Amino acid sequence: MGQKPAGVRERLDAEEWSRFWERGTLTTFEGHFSENYDAEIRDFWWSQFERLGPDAAVVDLATGNGAVALLAARFARENDRVFSITGVDSAAIDPARIRAAWPALAPDIDAIALRGGVPLEATGLADGSVDLVTSQYGFEYGDTAAGSREIARILRPGGRVAMIVHHADSAILSQAREGLRQVSMCVAEERFLRLGRRMTKLFRGLKPGPQRGGLNWTPGAVKVREELMAAAARLERHARRPEVLQEDAGFLEFVVPAVLRLLEQARGSSPANLERAWGEIEGEAEAYRLRMSDLVSAARDEAGMAQVQAEMEAAGLAPPAAAPLRYRGETLLGWTLVTHRP
Ligand SMILES: C[S@@+](CC[C@H](N)C(=O)[O-])C[C@H]1O[C@@H](n2cnc3c(N)ncnc32)[C@H](O)[C@@H]1O
Repeated sequence: MGQKPAGVRERLDAEEWSRFWERGTLTTFEGHFSENYDAEIRDFWWSQFERLGPDAAVVDLATGNGAVALLAARFARENDRVFSITGVDSAAIDPARIRAAWPALAPDIDAIALRGGVPLEATGLADGSVDLVTSQYGFEYGDTAAGSREIARILRPGGRVAMIVHHADSAILSQAREGLRQVSMCVAEERFLRLGRRMTKLFRGLKPGPQRGGLNWTPGAVKVREELMAAAARLERHARRPEVLQEDAGFLEFVVPAVLRLLEQARGSSPANLERAWGEIEGEAEAYRLRMSDLVSAARDEAGMAQVQAEMEAAGLAPPAAAPLRYRGETLLGWTLVTHRP
């Protein structure tokens, strides 16, 4: 990562993650999977659950709304096993809300214990009580050295660890980097949000007159409007580039129309409503920037994985095996990492 100006945050805190999970998405990729993780991701988890005894204890770290814990519950239900499944996360997690969003999953939701406000570095679980520790796009968000010691503590001898970790070169990460580029273009390079805010103010102050739209356009307002429209055109051109469309990072697709719509409504809106609408757009832009920065900071390249592997060994786990995970046969989606407590 390059040097960041002081005061610019890169990580989401537990409260921000809590707000994310309140939206009811099952996996961290809102809208990308029809329900839960599928294809090779599901197959990876299935292959881990198959190795477990009939009444194994499974703990999913940084579980979010419980995607991997729910896969374990489904596996157990379909294969006559009675796993005891716990998901922990430092964010607030509300099973009732997940049940309301996913009624068809109620039997599996009822079969797992989700505990919010629980960090993966200090789960509160008993020593040697767990047969399988899982985590998908979760462990790497925490303190991996302390997390490794916690895993070694809660696993029984012979107990296993299976993870999917963000890969620095995955499709998800290239989307995240494109998303950050779009935020930076919009906020810093083009000053699009600032120009839009200024334009709404100027626009509201224009007197009726014979010019465009029945308004008396001052030279200052004409200049800001031209700058704003030129910036919008450049941003839209960027968003339509084939390589950007392929990345599917739709920040500009959200923000450019939102700003232009607000401008259209500016004269008819009360100052309080306008202020609220600007607050929402700016808040969404900052939340998106933070989510993408968080992702980029959490992802691991080969050296980053080697560090996690070394931390696990130092904590007393067997040397972990890491391998790239491809989705639908081609798209790189992460690292798998497996190990056990000797
Ligand atoms: C990208 S989400 C993944 C959630 C889930 N495993 C999934 O695949 O949908 C990362 C999660 O890690 C959690 N998290 C971050 N740091 C953590 C920590 N130190 N202890 C426990 N959970 C943490 C966040 O609250 C968030 O829910």
